[in-house]
Amino acid sequence: MGTIQIRTAIPGPKSKALAERRNTAVPRGLSHGTPIYVAKAEDAWLEDVDGNRYIDFAGGIGCINVGHRRQPVVSAIRDQLDRFLHTCVQVTPYESYVRLAERMNEVTPGKFPKKTLFVNSGAEAVENAVKIARAHTGRPGIIAFEDAFHGRTMMTLALTSKTHPYKAGLAPFPGDVYRIPYAYCYRCSYSLKYPSCDLYCARHLEDTFKRVVASEDVAAVIAEPVLGEGGFVVPPPDFFRVLIDICHKHGVLFIADEVQSGFGRTGAMFASEHYGVEPDILVTAKSLGGGLPIAAITGRAEIMDAPGPGGLGGTFAGNPLSCAAALAVLDIFEREDLLARANELGSHFQKRAREWQKRWPIIGDIRGLGGMQAIELVKSSDKREPATDETKQVTEYCYEHGLITITAGSYSNVIRVLVPLVVANEQMEEGLDVLEAALQAVCEKKGVVAQPV
Ligand SMILES: Cc1ncc(COP(=O)(O)O)c(C=O)c1O
Repeated sequence: MGTIQIRTAIPGPKSKALAERRNTAVPRGLSHGTPIYVAKAEDAWLEDVDGNRYIDFAGGIGCINVGHRRQPVVSAIRDQLDRFLHTCVQVTPYESYVRLAERMNEVTPGKFPKKTLFVNSGAEAVENAVKIARAHTGRPGIIAFEDAFHGRTMMTLALTSKTHPYKAGLAPFPGDVYRIPYAYCYRCSYSLKYPSCDLYCARHLEDTFKRVVASEDVAAVIAEPVLGEGGFVVPPPDFFRVLIDICHKHGVLFIADEVQSGFGRTGAMFASEHYGVEPDILVTAKSLGGGLPIAAITGRAEIMDAPGPGGLGGTFAGNPLSCAAALAVLDIFEREDLLARANELGSHFQKRAREWQKRWPIIGDIRGLGGMQAIELVKSSDKREPATDETKQVTEYCYEHGLITITAGSYSNVIRVLVPLVVANEQMEEGLDVLEAALQAVCEKKGVVAQPV
């Protein structure tokens, strides 16, 4: 018997009743990818309040790389529960915070002296990276990319690209943010082709310093090594090296936002390693806490020390339960070869997705690094018009049939896979079978003719 068990129409009656209460009690601005209310979760599956069981390809949007409720993480949290819950690290610090900082300094790319600060969320970490970069350089400007996502606080919304639903109606945002195109080769902003483009988009940074903002007014360029919410876009291998060389030539820092691409997701501990680059500041969150909220800013020691005493912090930042959980997550990565597993899962996904692409022209692009994989759906492969409605229908079919998936992309036409890396082979296959059936059902409904394979 497989993992998936669907006992009711989805959503079931208990989920429906909760949705009604939610509509009265919670603002509509908080949206949900599915109408399913969770009762429990283990490893790579979830069970809802109606007793339906799903395979989880979303992993809490990339927070559950080591699996739901991994026992070493749960035990570490239990041990900490019996000692103390909160003192505020700014009042009476504790050893686990220091140990976690030491370990983050070791596992992140670059052999130079580093320091790490902990906060509560990815957005808060990006905010702090910006503060630190500005304090170090004495410059205000930050350059971000089209299709970037860096969070939902005011500064991170200024850095985030997608307008609806994130930014529309919420301005003004903090200033001194400039935007340049990312290396989104499937939809190249300059209509060029790699490698004959000679990485025009990366080299264009020099032009930006002449035509948009002077380099001496720019503190940092911030980029996701693989776009997350922007659609799992993987730039060519030399993109970041070219970009960072230009940054450093002008005394501009490079901040890598690895909130989604970090902690083994791409088959390396951090995606920056794939490109052979060592960011000046690296921002992490999500899977660091194994399910608890914690985020880190790790950077060159002299940069991290730029803000004066009291210039950084936060009441709950680096709380003891999250530090304990994060230390257990790092132990799991030391003991288990989750990086190899991410690569295996990624190759298998690509193999299945290539078969689907031969059959259905709706699959415009298949891309990813390691276990960070996606398909981009289009109305036709020649025009590449985003198939936004069809993408929504695929995800609906999936959760109705026992698979939790999430979308991504500036046109909401990408289906991304962030399955916990501990998923069993049979579960992965079961999940992919549902996704395949969903694509088939949506194509049939739209009258898309399947090509014989
Ligand atoms: C690349 C990236 N940066 C920042 C964030 C914001 O993180 P958080 O939601 O924890 O504030 C996200 C969230 O999805 C992200 O993917």
